[in-house]
Amino acid sequence: MIETQPKRYDSVARSLHWASAIFILAAFITGLTVDTPPKEWRPSYQNMHFLIGLTVLALAILRLGWRAGHAAPPPPAGSSALAALAIKLGHGVLYLMMLAVPLIGFAPLFARGRGINFGLFQIASPIERTKEWIGPTTEVHEIAAFALIALAVGHVAAAIYHQVALKDGVLLRMMPEKR
Ligand code: HEM
Ligand code: HEM
Repeated sequence: MIETQPKRYDSVARSLHWASAIFILAAFITGLTVDTPPKEWRPSYQNMHFLIGLTVLALAILRLGWRAGHAAPPPPAGSSALAALAIKLGHGVLYLMMLAVPLIGFAPLFARGRGINFGLFQIASPIERTKEWIGPTTEVHEIAAFALIALAVGHVAAAIYHQVALKDGVLLRMMPEKR
């Protein structure tokens, strides 16, 4: 059962939101620099990128789990039906991309014939290294990652616009409660 619409996000939603923002940024930075470390530690750096990316996937699943049982606060007062739809759509696509980008990451990973080292256990690639798939799969993963970041930048711009221009307190819904 979904509870009635609250005024702000609870501490679980806020923690998951900010953790996913930090891990997405870290995944993007480690992705862009994945080939830059010296040869000896490149494999561990790449593995760190996979683990950070999988953390984004886990956080997105947890967020959707939270969302299944909790309503989001209503659109800011005075929002048109179109604005309300844009908010829903924008947040929906952000969730979709938080799932899609890490999942697509398995394609360039397995095309390289590589697995992931989780420390206590490892998963191996189910297929042999397939050279001709490395370029196209990496490109699709890269384009999806840039789309996620572009969306997030638009989302942040909207949050700042609400805070600075509209002054309607929308940003505070995602901030810790004042004691
Ligand atoms: C939100 C999560 C993620 C983001 C934002 C992200 C972003 C990126 C970016 C920007 C690149 C560089 C592409 C290029 O310029 O060639 C990259 C490379 C790559 N990513 Fe991700 N990634 C994420 C999650 C994952 C996950 C979960 C995996 C594995 C399951 C993965 C596997 C790879 C692989 C194999 C490469 C190519 C590495 C190489 O060039 O050696 N990514 N990623
Ligand atoms: C990669 C980074 C981010 C992603 C993927 C993301 C994603 C999301 C999603 C999916 C929601 C909707 C939550 C729901 O209703 O279930 C949301 C809400 C929100 N986010 Fe972000 N976010 C990111 C970064 C940020 C940043 C940096 C800010 C602040 C500058 C921010 C401010 C907000 C605010 C204020 C809300 C509440 C909006 C409302 O109540 O209508 N987000 N975010």
